[in-house]
Amino acid sequence: MTENTPTRYHPVQVTLHWLVVVLVFAAFVIGKTMSGQPNDADKLMPLALHMGLGIITMIVIVIRFVTRLKLPKPAHVSAGNPFFDWVGKAVHYALYLFVFLMAVSGMSLSVQTGLPSIVFGGSGSPLPADFFDFAARMLHGFIAPTLLLLVLLHVGAAFYHQLALKDKLFARMWYGK
Ligand code: HEM
Repeated sequence: MTENTPTRYHPVQVTLHWLVVVLVFAAFVIGKTMSGQPNDADKLMPLALHMGLGIITMIVIVIRFVTRLKLPKPAHVSAGNPFFDWVGKAVHYALYLFVFLMAVSGMSLSVQTGLPSIVFGGSGSPLPADFFDFAARMLHGFIAPTLLLLVLLHVGAAFYHQLALKDKLFARMWYGK
């Protein structure tokens, strides 16, 4: 850490972080809600929304990862324990990976089931009888709870820093001098 090491993330990184939070939350809630719905015409709108949000999420997470490599960032915070510090770093990388895998598995499923032309192209073809007939649906369904677990660990750790260690961690992911 030098004199020039910032104390908070770059505003671009802050904006992309909170954008990913909103996008993943929305994609997750819509995904969970529509997965219980029958595969009829009423499902086209939630599918379009979910797929659109999922694709935007993938673009944003890739941009955030690339800009993270280029922009100055604050030093890692320590939880005062080398194991927790290691887990902290690993969870951050895993979050990028699992958001990416979530989107890629969703896109594979949509290609396997011809969704782009049905949902966005107005082809009029019926939706597949059951998405679970396709391997990518299993993957998408397994990655979702893993991502949820990672998010819970991430949020739990952030609150632990803020409230128990009182190291003002939240300020690093917000705007300011
Ligand atoms: C980060 C992005 C994404 C998140 C968080 C997400 C989340 C979810 C969740 C939670 C489910 C329900 C899983 C279950 O209950 O087992 C789901 C289902 C689904 N998702 Fe995604 N998804 C994302 C991206 C995508 C993308 C990019 C596509 C396609 C382009 C897509 C297509 C689908 C489809 C077709 C289903 C199946 C719905 C059903 O079974 O009726 N998802 N998604």
